[in-house]
Amino acid sequence: MYKRKDGFYRQAKLKGYRSRAAFKLKQLNQDYHLIKRGDRVVDLGCAPGGWMQVARELVGEEGYVLGIDMIPIENLEGKNMAFLQGDIREERVAESIREKLGGRADMVMSDLSPNLTGIRHADHHHSIQLSQDAFRLAKRVLKQKGNFLVKTFLGPDFGSFKKEIEAAFQTVKATRPEATRKASRELYLIGRGYQGQNQGGELSNL
Ligand SMILES: C[S@@+](CC[C@H](N)C(=O)[O-])C[C@H]1O[C@@H](n2cnc3c(N)ncnc32)[C@H](O)[C@@H]1O
Repeated sequence: MYKRKDGFYRQAKLKGYRSRAAFKLKQLNQDYHLIKRGDRVVDLGCAPGGWMQVARELVGEEGYVLGIDMIPIENLEGKNMAFLQGDIREERVAESIREKLGGRADMVMSDLSPNLTGIRHADHHHSIQLSQDAFRLAKRVLKQKGNFLVKTFLGPDFGSFKKEIEAAFQTVKATRPEATRKASRELYLIGRGYQGQNQGGELSNL
């Protein structure tokens, strides 16, 4: 995860964060107040665990952070932190999340990235698909008025994806935190105030 040794890399190492991406979440939370004490947070594509560490600081002792990734992470589980290994597209994942949380989440965040091939169209298509998978899952586990943060990518499908998010949340913002690498086409969408019941988000069962 520590790829190039820039300032954020060094800060992450110094502060004991597992990824330089930790600083993106810190900044996004400073600017948009997405996570508060006591929240139940779901982190999609959490490995190696930098966002989980930041979220755990923000939710405090009363909150809970559940990370999910296809690849394992080590030594981050604790009283109010847990990890589930799996592909977020699997049917069982939404049920496992609600079981582990004992209900719905206050916040779902996704830093999911596919393996990039270098072929721009294909990478864009896969990346947006993954953002859409995250959104589909968020609708199944997010509580009414909950928040959603999703990494997505500039390209031809970005506009229609943003519209889907806008239809489901009271407010939506697109932003690029400072720790994003200059050449990256990443952009984060922030949906606040999930309007669940109108969105086919299956709110009745928990
Ligand atoms: C950029 S990394 C996340 C970094 C993390 N936010 C941090 O701060 O440590 C993206 C992660 O998405 C995961 N991923 C990609 N596709 C996935 C899928 N379908 N299901 C679960 N995890 C996936 C990858 O395994 C990778 O660990």
